[in-house]
Amino acid sequence: MVPDLVIRYFRSEDAQKCSSLMQEHFRKNAINLTIEVRMRIADGRTTEYVHKLATNRTIVVANIKDEVVGMGGLKKNEIRHMYIHSGYQGKGIGSAILNFIEKEAYYKGFSSLIVNSVIHSEEFYIKNGFRSLIKTQIERHGCILEAILLEKIIE
Ligand SMILES: CC(C)(COP(=O)(O)OP(=O)(O)OC[C@H]1O[C@@H](n2cnc3c(N)ncnc32)[C@H](O)[C@@H]1OP(=O)(O)O)[C@@H](O)C(=O)NCCC(=O)NCCS
Repeated sequence: MVPDLVIRYFRSEDAQKCSSLMQEHFRKNAINLTIEVRMRIADGRTTEYVHKLATNRTIVVANIKDEVVGMGGLKKNEIRHMYIHSGYQGKGIGSAILNFIEKEAYYKGFSSLIVNSVIHSEEFYIKNGFRSLIKTQIERHGCILEAILLEKIIE
């Protein structure tokens, strides 16, 4: 496990760091979108955008010594906004966030979690106990992304 890693609920002072995390992802890593769409989405992921998200869903952050290195969201029983900083991927942080979110969904009374995942992250969810249901598509500013709907029964 990563030393000093803490998974906790979002606080309003995290908004700027979550915004930077999302912007970094869309500017540098979301290579399955066109450059124009990536920049447009990144520009929209402002601190205000994060504050607004936090009004109608649970946001969870991964913290290492005051740094936000990852985040994930739960809207009803749907997982959203899973982003781990590129320098921290593959260290179990995404799985730790999923584990926290799963408990949250359970305490809220849900019996399953769903996620509409981009294809390249499907394996991550499968490794965390999800099963693939159907192929779907996600539309982002006119760009169509191939995606997959996955589900995990929670108990
Ligand atoms: C996908 C993501 C959230 C996974 O978080 P992470 O912290 O890197 O994942 P973990 O270290 O907890 O990985 C758990 C397992 O899934 C595997 N895994 C993680 N990402 C994977 C990927 N993209 N493809 C294949 N396997 C993957 C890991 O190898 C690990 O397997 P292991 O237990 O056998 O070693 C993270 O890589 C990320 O932020 N990616 C960019 C944004 C994104 O695609 N978000 C998902 C939107 S639906």
